[in-house]
Amino acid sequence: MILNSLRVLFSLRLKKTIQIIKFFHNPKLAYSWFIEFIDDKVITKRHQKYTNFNDSSLIDYKKAINFTTKTNLVEINKIENKFPDFLSSKNKNIPNYSWAATNELAKITYIITKLIKPKIVVETGVGPGMTSWSILKAMSENKKGHLYSIDLPTPNTKNMPEVGYLIPNSLKNRWNLLIGPSKKILPNLLSELSNIDIFIHDSRHSFSNQLYEYETSWSSIKNQGFLISDDISNDAFINFSKKNGKDHILIKQNKKFPIGIIKK
Ligand SMILES: C[S@@+](CC[C@H](N)C(=O)[O-])C[C@H]1O[C@@H](n2cnc3c(N)ncnc32)[C@H](O)[C@@H]1O
Repeated sequence: MILNSLRVLFSLRLKKTIQIIKFFHNPKLAYSWFIEFIDDKVITKRHQKYTNFNDSSLIDYKKAINFTTKTNLVEINKIENKFPDFLSSKNKNIPNYSWAATNELAKITYIITKLIKPKIVVETGVGPGMTSWSILKAMSENKKGHLYSIDLPTPNTKNMPEVGYLIPNSLKNRWNLLIGPSKKILPNLLSELSNIDIFIHDSRHSFSNQLYEYETSWSSIKNQGFLISDDISNDAFINFSKKNGKDHILIKQNKKFPIGIIKK
């Protein structure tokens, strides 16, 4: 029993080490990832300063959509019924699927895209491509919109067939994928686009990276536009909304940390 556990532990560690060694075959990306990793683990710890929220301060995703878009629940339910089943049914055979957005985040991005018919959406953190898929699906139904996604592959994402591999080719005509750290790509992209309708953060959830992405994207988001963030696990989101004098909403989802929304 003990020997077996040691054997499993050893093979897991070996697998992880091999994964990291393989990853360093692309020195430029590996360097960017390593710098962020150090920032996360040593300089600004990932979940430093827990926000003081509890279950009763979190609201349901449909109520949040109702409140921010002023759409009634009947209409929201109608759109939700069109949300493709295959986007929410989890298939455990797909590699790194567990990294994908929760049902709640996928539905929020789908329903809000359907409702406000955005021209431009920018997201950070593609992974397998669940949120990208939901947004692109809604844009294709709207016959309007373009999605710009940024992803910095990590040793874990290198395990996937490719970044955004869940997204069907038929939806990719409205999609640009930019590879690299959001800190490097986001400022140039936003200055080229000038105005965006929605910004979604789902990349590295460290305090410094979240705050950086919120602050960088904010001036490009149109009035009445949306800032949506996964994993409100530290004070970055709440500090940011207070500093800008904006109300924020925290939404319950099927994992430890909530989703945040600020309407500009
Ligand atoms: C939680 S996953 C995103 C899941 C995705 N939104 C979905 O619904 O499937 C986080 C992704 O962020 C990427 N990432 C990590 N640090 C990043 C950074 N600094 N800039 C851009 N992407 C980053 C990781 O490679 C990973 O693919």
